[in-house]
Amino acid sequence: MKAILCKKFAPVSELVWEEVADPVAGPGEVVVDIKAAGLNYPDNLIVQGLYQFQPERPFSPGHEGAGVVSSVGEGVDLHKVGDNVAFFKGFGAFAEKIVVPDTLAFSIPESFPHHVAAGVFMTYGTSYHALVQRANISRQDEVLVLGAAGGVGLAAIDIAKSFGARVVAAVSTEEKGEICSRYGVDDIVVYGENKLNGGAQKNFSKELKTKSSRGGFSIIYDPIGDCFAEPALRSIGWGGTYLVVGFAAGKIPSFPANLMLLKGCAVSGVFIGRFQQENPSIYSQNLVEIGKLVAAKKLTPFISEKIPMSDSIEAIERIARRGVVGKVVFVNS
Ligand SMILES: NC(=O)c1ccc[n+]([C@@H]2O[C@H](COP(=O)([O-])OP(=O)(O)OC[C@H]3O[C@@H](n4cnc5c(N)ncnc54)[C@H](OP(=O)(O)O)[C@@H]3O)[C@@H](O)[C@H]2O)c1
Repeated sequence: MKAILCKKFAPVSELVWEEVADPVAGPGEVVVDIKAAGLNYPDNLIVQGLYQFQPERPFSPGHEGAGVVSSVGEGVDLHKVGDNVAFFKGFGAFAEKIVVPDTLAFSIPESFPHHVAAGVFMTYGTSYHALVQRANISRQDEVLVLGAAGGVGLAAIDIAKSFGARVVAAVSTEEKGEICSRYGVDDIVVYGENKLNGGAQKNFSKELKTKSSRGGFSIIYDPIGDCFAEPALRSIGWGGTYLVVGFAAGKIPSFPANLMLLKGCAVSGVFIGRFQQENPSIYSQNLVEIGKLVAAKKLTPFISEKIPMSDSIEAIERIARRGVVGKVVFVNS
């Protein structure tokens, strides 16, 4: 089979598309012929050695995908050859085949296209966990989503709207705001493409407060961090929840503790990989629920591009410079 290979931690341009040995299913494992794999921001980080864990080299990046089971190991009872499945694993999806534990492959109905199933777990799984388990979202909530036209951001909008919450999207450009509008957001804030200095941070915070119908958001979903985080936290309402999801804008922010005191708010961390390890059954239930909502068209993942896997290295580089909206998937013919 062929695979995108990371031979040493280095810039994305050093990845190669190369012939490697086919994987073999061990006990409790299945081999999946990958039809599609979803691109995520951490795929850019992991090949440079900048992610939360560092696989042995060589390895293939790619957290998630979907395809058809082509062989099963001893003791496998959840799946059989020919089953359509989606999977979520730390790496290995940017290839023609992958071996995954039987328990990490999830059956998908024939009606669920591989390219849609391939791009749901990381973005929708993260945003569902954040909004449901960490923030206990309900239709009474007013949610601010930063970096809202990105993968996890759009998923957060889609999920929050499915709960009936009021949603405000914050993005860098009008064009990205237009994409969020298609998901029925109630208002949009454009923060521009530059970093915010002290004065601009104050203005951003003031503008955010005007966009809340009750003087402060009950949930803030933040996948970007850096200079946007503290002004956003200042726009939270009494007793709100600030979800720390990622730092796509660069720097990890820190918050003055008096803000949490004055707002009576919680700053709550979200880490989907650790959640999957610590709470596997809730994690699986979440994915089943997301699958049902997508199949029922109550959630609509935005697949912006389908790129042949063999030509996809450029897109792994592009995601780190704001060059991607919604979800990009790589496909094998
Ligand atoms: N905690 C978890 O478990 C978890 C799970 C998945 C992802 N994440 C993290 O969440 C973040 C977003 O992931 P994603 O898949 O949504 O990525 P994405 O599709 O690339 O979206 C990220 C968004 O961040 C904004 N951004 C602001 N400054 C940026 C910069 N300097 N470079 C790139 N983007 C910038 C961009 O929107 P604007 O142009 O509108 O600003 C972009 O749309 C990443 O940091 C990722 O590691 C965390």
